[in-house]
Amino acid sequence: MNQLSHIAIIMDGNGRWAELRNKKRSSGHEAGAKTVREITEFCATHEEIHRLTLYAFSTENWKRPRLEVEFLMKLLDKYIKQELENYLKHNIRFEPIGDLRAFSKQLRETIEMAKEKTAHCDGLVQSLALNYGSHDEILRTVNLLKNNEGDITKEMLENALDCKADVDLLIRTGGDQRLSNFLLWQVAYAELFFTDTLWPDFNAKELEKIIKKFKKVERRFGGLK
Ligand code: IPE
Ligand code: IPE
Ligand code: MG
Repeated sequence: MNQLSHIAIIMDGNGRWAELRNKKRSSGHEAGAKTVREITEFCATHEEIHRLTLYAFSTENWKRPRLEVEFLMKLLDKYIKQELENYLKHNIRFEPIGDLRAFSKQLRETIEMAKEKTAHCDGLVQSLALNYGSHDEILRTVNLLKNNEGDITKEMLENALDCKADVDLLIRTGGDQRLSNFLLWQVAYAELFFTDTLWPDFNAKELEKIIKKFKKVERRFGGLK
């Protein structure tokens, strides 16, 4: 059976979830934050899963209306502060990826605080992708390495990426079947699962079903069975 070390999720559908209920998009994001907690706790208690990478804000999401972006920034700050106790209780290490320089000083301090306070935790790594885009990640990495003498090796590149771990299982909620600039390097051999469920309605039970299917897939990595 397939080993499952790294799950990555494109958490999509918050806005539509709210619109279906005649609510503001912001309430969909709030409901989505609750799902983040449930899925993170599930993964933290699943001994095989070491890393959970969650797409929370993309480099393209700045294109949204100013008020929605501001709401998401405040929600992020609130969520991280609120979750700290939970991270420590479940031995979860908080490890953001993405270019954090774009965020306000206050949000960067909150992120840094959660990183520091959970640095000793050796259970699940919850990696939130914040102002993250694969193109941006790869460009920043190449620029970081360009002054090295000689050719850049695969190992050098991987060690310098924000996310250094290959993804085993990638899930996208919300019905669309695209990657939206998420972990393009790391999903090279990931199993891809798409569900119509909107992110606020996603839960541990549905994740368990996906994991069961993942376990049965024959992963060949280009070789033969
Ligand atoms: C995902 O939900 C959350 C973020 C991108 C921040 P959306 O806000 O994209 O929800 P839909 O896709 O519009 O329903
Ligand atoms: C992807 O969702 C980004 C996050 C989940 C953070 P989007 O809603 O931004 O993606 P597109 O625009 O539908 O591709
Ligand atoms: Mg969306």
